[in-house]
Amino acid sequence: MTQRKRIVAGNWKMNGNLALVEAFSSAIQPAQFPQVEVVVFPPFPLIAQVAKTGIATGSQTVSEQDAGAFTGEVEAKLVAELGASYSLIGHSERRTLFNESDELLVSKFVKAQEAGLTPILCVGETESERESGQTETVISRQVKAVIEELGVATLKDSVIAYEPVWAIGTGKTASPEQAQQVHKFIRDLVAQFDTEIAATLPILYGGSVNEQNSDLLFAQPDIDGGLIGGASLKPDSFKQICESAVGNV
Ligand code: PGA
Repeated sequence: MTQRKRIVAGNWKMNGNLALVEAFSSAIQPAQFPQVEVVVFPPFPLIAQVAKTGIATGSQTVSEQDAGAFTGEVEAKLVAELGASYSLIGHSERRTLFNESDELLVSKFVKAQEAGLTPILCVGETESERESGQTETVISRQVKAVIEELGVATLKDSVIAYEPVWAIGTGKTASPEQAQQVHKFIRDLVAQFDTEIAATLPILYGGSVNEQNSDLLFAQPDIDGGLIGGASLKPDSFKQICESAVGNV
């Protein structure tokens, strides 16, 4: 039994609309999932709508800038004002499609925390990195970028999501053992800097999680919940995934 916070987060990516928010608010009441924080990450314009449903919400990224002449960007403080309490930072699609570097992500991480949002730092290796035995090197670099720049204490109010890039949207989930191995590696890495923070840091698994595989994944000792993409667009599937997190508290 762990005292770590359990989180099931749905990353809608560039999907969803007002009707989907409606469908979620009918299907999911946070009180149904005691001891589990259910969070939905919709596109920016829907954050306020999700917040009104009582489901916790967050943004998929934030700007590394404060308000100003940055057309198209969204400031972390505004995200918080709309009722969000989290922000994803460094999702692999941001890293690859939008060229977000570790250095830039540290700036975004800071802006999220300054605005009172809990950052969920996403890390993970590509298929070729895994095949060439680089998994731990890559993850270590991504996590240490934040620790070395901001200090380990910054992870006290944060979450890490391990998402192997080869498992995102592919239907190829990491096996519970593979995922557990990397989660333990992340926890041990953080423990080299601070054992208490490592022990309480929620580490989520993401990458083709669905209602069939969530139970076994969430049963692993170092997996504290999930970051769900595709299955988070289906209220019934997402609800079942939340239920499996309750079962594994
Ligand atoms: P997936 O996406 O569940 O569709 O694989 C996960 C994510 O990108 O966060």
